[in-house]
Amino acid sequence: MKPALTQFGAQMSNLTGVRAIMKDINETLKAGAGQELSNLSAGNPLILPEVEQLWRDCTAELLASSEYGEVVCRYGSSQGYAPLIDAVVNDFNQRYGLNLTDAFGGGLTERNILITPGSQTLYFYAANSFGGYTKSGELKQIVLPLSPDYTGYGGVCLVPEALVAYKPTLDIDASAHRFKYRPDFSQLSITEKTGCVIFSRPCNPTGNVLSDDEVRKIAALAAPYDVPVLVDSAYAPPFPALNFTDMSLIFGENILHCTSLSKAGLPGERIGIAIGDEKLIQVLESFQTNIGIHSSRYGQAIAARAINSGALADIAEKVIRPFYQNKFAVLEGTLDAAMPKNLPWFLHRGEGAIFAWLWLQDLPITDWEFYQELKKVGVIVVPGSTFFPGLKEEWQHKHQCLRISLTGSDTEIVTGMQRLAKVAEQVYQSSAVSA
Ligand SMILES: Cc1ncc(COP(=O)(O)O)c(C=O)c1O
Repeated sequence: MKPALTQFGAQMSNLTGVRAIMKDINETLKAGAGQELSNLSAGNPLILPEVEQLWRDCTAELLASSEYGEVVCRYGSSQGYAPLIDAVVNDFNQRYGLNLTDAFGGGLTERNILITPGSQTLYFYAANSFGGYTKSGELKQIVLPLSPDYTGYGGVCLVPEALVAYKPTLDIDASAHRFKYRPDFSQLSITEKTGCVIFSRPCNPTGNVLSDDEVRKIAALAAPYDVPVLVDSAYAPPFPALNFTDMSLIFGENILHCTSLSKAGLPGERIGIAIGDEKLIQVLESFQTNIGIHSSRYGQAIAARAINSGALADIAEKVIRPFYQNKFAVLEGTLDAAMPKNLPWFLHRGEGAIFAWLWLQDLPITDWEFYQELKKVGVIVVPGSTFFPGLKEEWQHKHQCLRISLTGSDTEIVTGMQRLAKVAEQVYQSSAVSA
């Protein structure tokens, strides 16, 4: 049977970005079963014993409580499970002194929160509520101010032409072999044609953290047009706190602060949290009612416990952050020791998230070909060109980067980076010979 698909059907049945490449990776893993592979491709966080124990304890508490029936045997409100909403309100008000600022006119209330089944869903609601064609046929853009960014943004737009990304500027420290992306404010255009703005901070895939000033500047550019700015905080504090550099959370009338419990050990329960102006929250809540009524309540109930007790923020800071920060240090140290000094390789500053991002300037082959060469020596990473959703213009840089996951064991990371250094040396050398 071959059903005829609508434009939306065709768009949504496409696998975009990294999900398309996962098929190749899974086949490679299957074919290489039994071989010693360094799989540094995964975006799935590891199960850390302390984190698993926290969720096990919260579950045991829920099971033993009279609340259990109410949680799993009844429908609830589309906005989310009230105890979780209250927990987020109290935690954020207290932790960030929000009642002392005027961002929410005297602190967060339950009207400023929406719980969604994972934050990916939240971006789907927002991208299609604010981006796409208006009733009068005008195209409202979904602006990604700094490309590369999260590949999933490519999959959430029902109207693909609405997605527009901007090339960054590069801060390069040549002698240290490090670099950092910055938004290029001389190019970034946010106007009455903009529907919303989205970026991840810390960023998947690069580990970049936009500075507080850069975030404020983007929000200020969007404010005159009443354009919502979604700050994807899937890796930000207070949970999972996967920032390795200081950063403040920025709140404001046109900022939707979006977080997720996926990297805090609960990806299977699908919990996304939007925090922002109630007018924005109401739009997204109605979208959610129409699509799926509400998120599953079991995960919400255990999350409420972990947030209220303070255990989640505590474990994020004491266990989750140091674990991945240490992985980055292992990766960085191995590359510094193994990569030839005379090659133009640049590692993005490791400011957060669970990935490293490597730029091989003037790479004589494409990132996809380099990925194939790495597979031959048992190393699997993700070619970087999959992380530029919405960037229409051709840019060599797009084909010169790799995303390396920090979810490998230390041995996998060390072996993987040593082998990568050898492959890089050979690839640059063979092009010099043939030139
Ligand atoms: C930057 C970023 N945003 C959003 C998501 C989606 O997360 P979830 O839907 O599990 O909350 C991910 C997942 O990897 C991510 O890396």
